[in-house]
Amino acid sequence: MNIDQIKNICVVGAGNMGHQIAIRGALSGYEVVCTDVSEEQLGKAEAFAAQYLPERVKKGRLTEEQAKNAQANISFTNSLEEASKQADFVIEAATEKLELKRDIFAQLDALCRPETILATNSSYIVGSKIADATGRPDKVVNMHFFNPALVMKLVEVVKGPYVSEETAEVTMELARRMEKIPVMLQKEMYGFLVNYILAGLYRQALYLVDQGVASPQDVDKAVENALGHPMGPFRLMDLTGIDLSYHVSTERFLETGDRADAPSPTVVEKYVLKEWGKKTGKGFYDYSE
Ligand code: 3HC
Repeated sequence: MNIDQIKNICVVGAGNMGHQIAIRGALSGYEVVCTDVSEEQLGKAEAFAAQYLPERVKKGRLTEEQAKNAQANISFTNSLEEASKQADFVIEAATEKLELKRDIFAQLDALCRPETILATNSSYIVGSKIADATGRPDKVVNMHFFNPALVMKLVEVVKGPYVSEETAEVTMELARRMEKIPVMLQKEMYGFLVNYILAGLYRQALYLVDQGVASPQDVDKAVENALGHPMGPFRLMDLTGIDLSYHVSTERFLETGDRADAPSPTVVEKYVLKEWGKKTGKGFYDYSE
């Protein structure tokens, strides 16, 4: 597959990341079909696109024509088959669970043309753990966007052990054409670059809160006002989803058996209360207004 042959993109998962990746693709001129098993999630994603694009025009960030074209380029369906049958490139952005992703990739392998590249936006799961669920391991690649995907410029591409040179290069170029700044990891690494670094910040911040040293809000104030981060770790967890932090730590713990990898008590409490951050209206902060 060469980059100029890529016209149709399928985004699997219309959640926190998927809907914004889909809109970014549509803005870059690709025909994008976004799919999800949840009708509610699809409805939210479609409503977001319908509101976001005209708002960008009002703000002077897009022309009327760019917004109109992007809107025409994007569609939503709950049928994986319909979404993927024309796809030249698939970006999977489903829940962060290995077995679920393997199942989706096995289905995609059966539904898509043999040359279609299958990328995962997973935050932590390396492509080689998914690749053998398909008959095309050389075309299964990590392409990791950041939240909010319409704003953050970086995309991590991982050249895992089975990924072909061509797949890695096409993925890097697609990221550029989607107006992102790609970086290539030459080998697989848990958390890639950014989440590997971020995990250290989260671990220390959660320890301070678990130990009752400071509140999440004061830890955020410290990180925002002394280190100059745009968001402290707790505000950031609210944005990316506390459920995501919970699932990622749980999967890691099951894999390593190391208690240091288990979700912290603060994260477990929020998870159980279903206070998952912005998406549920409450996390470490209240978003009900
Ligand atoms: N969706 C789309 N666009 C958004 C947005 C959202 N949720 N939130 C903000 N924006 C846009 C605004 O429209 C605005 O665009 P404009 O300047 O072109 O008009 C721009 O972002 C700035 O927005 P605001 O002025 O409202 O707010 P801030 O200046 O506070 O910026 C922020 C918001 C961009 C989210 C900023 O706080 C930030 O950069 N935070 C850090 C985010 C971060 O670290 N992300 C990485 C998380 S780790 C990750 O994703 C890994 C994954 O695996 C979990």
